[in-house]
Amino acid sequence: MVKVNANYLKLQAGYLFPEISRRVNAFLASKPDAQLIRLGIGDVTEPLPKACCEAMKAAIKEMSGVEGFHGYGPEQGYSWLREVIAKQDYQSRKCEISPEEIFVSDGSKCDSSNILDILGQGNRIAVTDPVYPVYVDSNVMSGNTGRAGDLGRYEGLVYLPITAANNFEAQLPEEHVDLIYLCFPNNPTGAVASLDQLRRWVAYAKEHQALILFDAAYEAFIQDPALPHSIYEVDGARECAIEFRSFSKNAGFTGTRCAFTVVPKTLKGKTDDGAEIDLWSLWSRRQSTKFNGVSYIVQRGAEAVYSSEGQAETKELISFYMENASIIRRKLMSLGFKVFGGEHAPYVWVNTPSNMDSWQFFDHLLHHANVVGTPGSGFGASGEGYFRLSAFNSRSNVEKAMERIALL
Ligand code: MLT
Repeated sequence: MVKVNANYLKLQAGYLFPEISRRVNAFLASKPDAQLIRLGIGDVTEPLPKACCEAMKAAIKEMSGVEGFHGYGPEQGYSWLREVIAKQDYQSRKCEISPEEIFVSDGSKCDSSNILDILGQGNRIAVTDPVYPVYVDSNVMSGNTGRAGDLGRYEGLVYLPITAANNFEAQLPEEHVDLIYLCFPNNPTGAVASLDQLRRWVAYAKEHQALILFDAAYEAFIQDPALPHSIYEVDGARECAIEFRSFSKNAGFTGTRCAFTVVPKTLKGKTDDGAEIDLWSLWSRRQSTKFNGVSYIVQRGAEAVYSSEGQAETKELISFYMENASIIRRKLMSLGFKVFGGEHAPYVWVNTPSNMDSWQFFDHLLHHANVVGTPGSGFGASGEGYFRLSAFNSRSNVEKAMERIALL
């Protein structure tokens, strides 16, 4: 009989979001008429920007003729998309990133997990707690951890708690680590990092010859112009960081699928015998073997995000969701909740009330307000006692959800 990857057997329960769906479906089976409002998974609800739709329509038209037909594209993404990304997302912020260092892909979730393909075994790995569960689970699947202990923390990982007690700012690891996952604006807490904070991480990474995996999927939600959008705004980050970006949340591409990963050519890793190898070549080799690129049509849609119409429309989308976030914040604060995040991120992070734990509050909201959120403990042991509400929904649903919570 075929052997399975036994690391999968170390994974706890289901992946968080399918587990939430399972509970919601069980509830709906008993109350099929319940009018649920879903503020759980961070999935967008507003339509795609018109500029993107028009560009994709034009691309379909091109594809329907012999001259404009496109078969396999470059695995790394079309150069016209990589060029506009380099210019508008990086060079405009004085980040020295070239189009060759950008790899277009179908998602940051996949990339932040697939990147482990090019990293060896035996790295010491740090994650924040709470954390986006993909970082942890993909390390478990790759055999980089031991088993989970009582708190659900895996042996072999270094957990850096982020709670109200430290203002959701992780301390630098006290020990040596080789790989560090950072996410700003943060999923799930909504916290942001200042340039000084990022400088401290880059300094740590350089001192320890560590690699930072920087997830910037929510950078477009930053409202304060003084806050950095990219790790490459810090000098020296080209020598120690890979950055993940996505069109999912700024342009509503969660179902359309397009993202990109920046792997500077200056990044190095080492082999078991100590020889230096550049990571760009390994990632390029990995992608060209295992990935056939994003469709021409979708890449044309992503390119349109950078047009003046696309920029105006995505800005409008973000303002819309951020207004939802501020409605959630204001209402919950007026009800006496302790509220965090939601100012530079589409996630509001609150303390659960009345000594309920995260899953108890999840069930309470589901059963009594018919509102779905995400239990903080699903993001890690230090998320216990917290709850995440997503701002991705229609205005009327957000308002209705707040009215229902007020009546609890
Ligand atoms: C979330 O709710 O945390 C996000 O939707 C996850 C994701 O983008 O994969």
